[in-house]
Amino acid sequence: MVYDETLKSLEEEQRLRRIPESLDGLDLISNDYMSLGAHHSEYINEYIDRFGNPPMSASASRLLQRHQYDHNSLEKMLDGLYGKKTLLLNSGYHANTGALSALSVAGTLIISDKLIHASMIDGIRLGHGDTARFVHNDMSMLRKILDKKASLYECVIIAVESVYSMDGDLAPLEELVKIKKEYTNILLYVDEAHAFGVFGEKGLGLAEELGVMSDIDIIIVTLGKAAAGYGAFIATSESLHSYFINCARSFIFSYMFISGP
Ligand SMILES: Cc1ncc(COP(=O)(O)O)c(C=O)c1O
Repeated sequence: MVYDETLKSLEEEQRLRRIPESLDGLDLISNDYMSLGAHHSEYINEYIDRFGNPPMSASASRLLQRHQYDHNSLEKMLDGLYGKKTLLLNSGYHANTGALSALSVAGTLIISDKLIHASMIDGIRLGHGDTARFVHNDMSMLRKILDKKASLYECVIIAVESVYSMDGDLAPLEELVKIKKEYTNILLYVDEAHAFGVFGEKGLGLAEELGVMSDIDIIIVTLGKAAAGYGAFIATSESLHSYFINCARSFIFSYMFISGP
């Protein structure tokens, strides 16, 4: 069968994925190489002392949940830090697939860097708008695509990471902001997964470090890396926040772990 053939060729190319065996000791391969995520028991005990046992169930979509005090208070805190409206989702994968597929409608063009994360690629693929890609960090190629195509679309979304998960290098965020300002129909979409907790005085990411936070329209952060937890959030404008609540299918149709009294 075709599936067996796929497995065989992956094996031959030495690209067959396997779930690793458990090992004790230092883990320098995952994002939790400081083992912060492995030591949450103190926090959990404190939580139980204050609020009782958290329900161990996702229960329902956030749109149906009556008890989500923790989510709402975390979002409020993040709103203040980012100066944007934030929306929590299950994971960075959910955030990118939900946000990009919702943004990619007829009359839009998403132009992405060729090295963006798989979750961004999947989100773009799920959408219905047009797409284009530029060679990694090649701003002259991006400019050429914009010169040719930007005026044909109601909205153009430039999608990049700030710190690239593939190569560990940085996007030229200041230049991207400059390019954005030369047009009236561009939204800048930046995945800060690897910059959160690393760049900026408050650890908010590269946009904070470079002082361009207010010029970025959509920021994605996962809490599964430097924050040593899980989940993710989208930080954006008031109207896009409301748009994602209504149109990001990974938010609407996936249940999110809810805790709190
Ligand atoms: C740039 C980037 N975005 C999104 C994700 C997905 O985040 P999560 O693990 O929370 O689904 C990752 C994970 O490796 C990532 O590197």
